[in-house]
Amino acid sequence: MSAQVNVRQVTVTQGTVRQGTLADIAALTAESLQSQTGPRWTPEHWRTLLEGTDTAAVFIAEDILTEDFAEEVCEDVSGIAGCVAVRCVADLAELENVAVVAGRRRQGIARRLCDAAIAWAAARGASELRLEVRASNLAALALYRRLGFLHQGVRPRYYSDPSEDAVLMALPLQSRAGPGATV
Ligand SMILES: CC(C)(COP(=O)(O)OP(=O)(O)OC[C@H]1O[C@@H](n2cnc3c(N)ncnc32)[C@H](O)[C@@H]1OP(=O)(O)O)[C@@H](O)C(=O)NCCC(=O)NCCS
Repeated sequence: MSAQVNVRQVTVTQGTVRQGTLADIAALTAESLQSQTGPRWTPEHWRTLLEGTDTAAVFIAEDILTEDFAEEVCEDVSGIAGCVAVRCVADLAELENVAVVAGRRRQGIARRLCDAAIAWAAARGASELRLEVRASNLAALALYRRLGFLHQGVRPRYYSDPSEDAVLMALPLQSRAGPGATV
């Protein structure tokens, strides 16, 4: 967009959840998706996940931003509202990261992203989806409980900077595999 164009209004509409590609790396490492509570991954880390399409997947929730210009011209551009990363090796899957930009939280975006990751892992025959989360991350703990993850234990002082216990959780997937799991 040129600097001379005045945008009168920007309308944000919740778009779809889609699978990420290598073209998304810059957006996935944008500051708006980083937090104190989630992992901060390098572009190389995202690249490894995005290239390993048999063993890993990244799902992205994309907003549709409709820019209404002073010249009456409307243009649709997209913006990432959140992302999730999942890995699957043999029959074990791990939810590695989920993040939603600060201004778009509590609107069901993480739940939709995690549903896509769960369906993807189930379709690959994983028997369960595991994760670990900082013990103080109450929002993430509430999200995972809401999705049906069960408490599996605590790994003392698993995290550093700051030092903190990890809560281990797992979601059984057997009943989810089958013709309906097509992500
Ligand atoms: C955790 C996080 C991903 C949740 O994203 P979100 O899009 O706001 O979550 P959703 O709107 O889908 O919430 C689904 C459910 O989770 C629970 N939940 C989510 N955030 C919550 C909060 N701050 N407090 C209490 N419950 C919460 C609720 O049960 C919610 O359902 P409800 O809104 O109908 O009550 C988001 O807060 C975030 O990006 N945090 C920073 C990164 C992070 O810590 N990631 C997890 C570690 S990898």
